[in-house]
Amino acid sequence: MKPTVYIARKVPTEVEDYIGKHCNYSKWDQPGPIPREVLLENLSNAEGLLISGGKINQELLDHAPRLRAVSTISVGYNNFDLEAMKARGILGTNTPQVLNDTVADLIFALILSTARRIPEMDRYVREGNWKRGDDENLFGIDVHHKTLGIIGMGGIGEAVAHRGKWGFGMNILYHNRTRKPEVEATLEAEYCSLQDLLRKSDFIVLMTPLTPETHHLIGAEELALMKPTSVFINASRGATVDEEALIKALQTNKIYGAGLDVFEREPLAHDNPLLSLPNVITLPHIGSSTEQTRFEMAMLAAQSLVSALQGETPANLVKE
Ligand code: DGY
Repeated sequence: MKPTVYIARKVPTEVEDYIGKHCNYSKWDQPGPIPREVLLENLSNAEGLLISGGKINQELLDHAPRLRAVSTISVGYNNFDLEAMKARGILGTNTPQVLNDTVADLIFALILSTARRIPEMDRYVREGNWKRGDDENLFGIDVHHKTLGIIGMGGIGEAVAHRGKWGFGMNILYHNRTRKPEVEATLEAEYCSLQDLLRKSDFIVLMTPLTPETHHLIGAEELALMKPTSVFINASRGATVDEEALIKALQTNKIYGAGLDVFEREPLAHDNPLLSLPNVITLPHIGSSTEQTRFEMAMLAAQSLVSALQGETPANLVKE
């Protein structure tokens, strides 16, 4: 007897076909996120759930008495209440590795765009201001050969460090829960305390997962340690930063600028003060959003789900 799966996010046909080969399934196939009430209504029979981002908490588990495995199409799994899942013996999987290069590319796009003020310069030309010839007002800051500080040296952090080191001749600092001797050897990366990294870096990239320990990891105190010429990039989760403190630091030019792919509340409200700041670049959480990478993430999530439902230990099992 095939296990029953609910697919709560539109996925490519090949991914759906793969699940269909191994499971009976029903699905949400509208573009965009599934409304919570529709998700809950569809779980009474589900043994497996393929999802992207929706909270897997006690409320959801109460609607899913047969659930055995949940696979999120994301590397971040802060949507999992792991304690509640463990108490019910429900396995959770995520999609690491396959998105590393794509997210690292986007982080570099944010670094370059913030440093060279690319969106602002684009508006400048479109609005017919070029003829004013005000050269110095268009100056940005250099990226090459500067110091790049990476907080959270996982797979994405390493891919960012690689680009910084070999593409831009940057000096790499990192802070991580554990030291990574291989990264130190191959990228000449220097391990630092968080405080030292913040003081010394010209570009600070935050890539740590969101956990109770990393909630508001960057707040007023940490921002105060950064140089007035430094650029802050966040492509992890919005709540790793105290957004109010960041807004204040940017409004008062305590730092040069910020490139943000994630926010404390998504979607970002139209009246969020970040949107009125010229030294900020905002993106709609598109770190992994390329056709190829999203396909690979969806396929990996489907394979992990099927493997968990077949009684195996999936390679991407979330442990803590
Ligand atoms: C991830 O995979 O966690 C990305 O942030 C997309 O959600």
